[in-house]
Amino acid sequence: MKLKEHFSNIKPSATLAMNQTVLRMWSKGKNVFHLGFGESRFPVHPDLVHELTVHATKQSYLSSLGINELREKISVFFQENYGFNVVDPDSIIIGIGSKSLLHTILSILDGPVLLSVPSWVSYSSIAKLTDHPVYRFYLDDKRSYEVDLDSLFDRADQAQNDTGKPPILILNSPNNPTGRMLSKNEIKEIANGARKRNMVVLSDEIYGLITHGDNSHDSIRTLYPEGTIVFNGISKHLSLGGWRFGFSLVPDNAGQDLVNACDTVISNIWSCVPAPIQHTVMRAFQPDNELTNYINTCTSIHDIRTRYLYDHLTDLNISCPEPQGAFYLYPNLGDKKQILGKINITTDIELAEFLLEKYELATLPGEAFGDNAENLSLRLATSYLDMEDDTKAEAILRAYQKDPIAVNFIRKHHPRTQEAANRFGHFMNDIVSG
Ligand SMILES: Cc1ncc(COP(=O)(O)O)c(C=O)c1O
Repeated sequence: MKLKEHFSNIKPSATLAMNQTVLRMWSKGKNVFHLGFGESRFPVHPDLVHELTVHATKQSYLSSLGINELREKISVFFQENYGFNVVDPDSIIIGIGSKSLLHTILSILDGPVLLSVPSWVSYSSIAKLTDHPVYRFYLDDKRSYEVDLDSLFDRADQAQNDTGKPPILILNSPNNPTGRMLSKNEIKEIANGARKRNMVVLSDEIYGLITHGDNSHDSIRTLYPEGTIVFNGISKHLSLGGWRFGFSLVPDNAGQDLVNACDTVISNIWSCVPAPIQHTVMRAFQPDNELTNYINTCTSIHDIRTRYLYDHLTDLNISCPEPQGAFYLYPNLGDKKQILGKINITTDIELAEFLLEKYELATLPGEAFGDNAENLSLRLATSYLDMEDDTKAEAILRAYQKDPIAVNFIRKHHPRTQEAANRFGHFMNDIVSG
């Protein structure tokens, strides 16, 4: 069978592949500290469990774009949680996770895709699968991975010159892999530059409700509504990755051609999001203190666990941008190149393999996120440790509800997180002492 040529340079998702590797190792009785997969693992909220049982008998095909009542609820959710002015429910599209919507929209839009280095593993794969040329710009590793605006707009102009089409920029804040959030100023500069160039911005805000401490999420849509398509979902703040539900918001007036094109793609490919899920998730968008508290509790726990590992790494003199949202750390060992070279580690892939083999630490190399392998960056996901199964995840939630003081919570209930941190310490000792 002859495959399309682009499959020779697109790989299965590195994050899902790493998860399967760890699950296989666990099933063989091996000990692995799983820092390789960003899955929020809190129990499904009981109200949503109840709702799903109520709607289990819903068996008919539903609207491809989403039932009206659900789209209306999502529009209110955006207004209340993301500070968007009026949102027209007709501008909402739902899909099988936000990934499917990114694929749908990129299969419709024309133009080169602009992606940061580093950026989430699936963006470049989806852009290639949908036949877009990809242009990379840089996040500034010397300034905690802020967007390098010169690099962004130089690449945008180059992409426009090469292809004769305005580029499509993919943004992600809070960010996977860096854990950083775009500042108000970056958003302003990007919105101005994008408007001047007539660019489309695809703004992935799936971690928008998972912000640490006093950080609050800002969306580029508030400054550039006419050119921004927002992506979101329930996989992260409600820990419902396996329910596969995502949603997008296209520009209110300009977007109806796009909405119709999405309808064409969705109705011809997966027809609709499963009926029980569409009915059940309406509950997730109902303004309600109980669910809001639950999301805030889970967010605070992500914050504590992520910050604990961050503090530990910085104490070990491992450079790492300070996390502001989501549940990721992006340490960089570029300044340890010489000592790592002595044990034949020259790339992040070798580094990740070494950490797995010698210290049982599963991480992902920065190369999977488009980074230069010789920069020696790793992405650590903090969402899995001490929550490896449902019972442990439930216990973590209950323990926090009883005693939310961070030091107690980590010391008493996070043996594996502490051990993983210690192992980074052993690793640093070992390489420094040669
Ligand atoms: C930045 C980012 N966007 C999207 C997704 C996937 O979201 P969904 O489960 O809605 O497809 C992930 C999952 O890891 C992610 O990290």
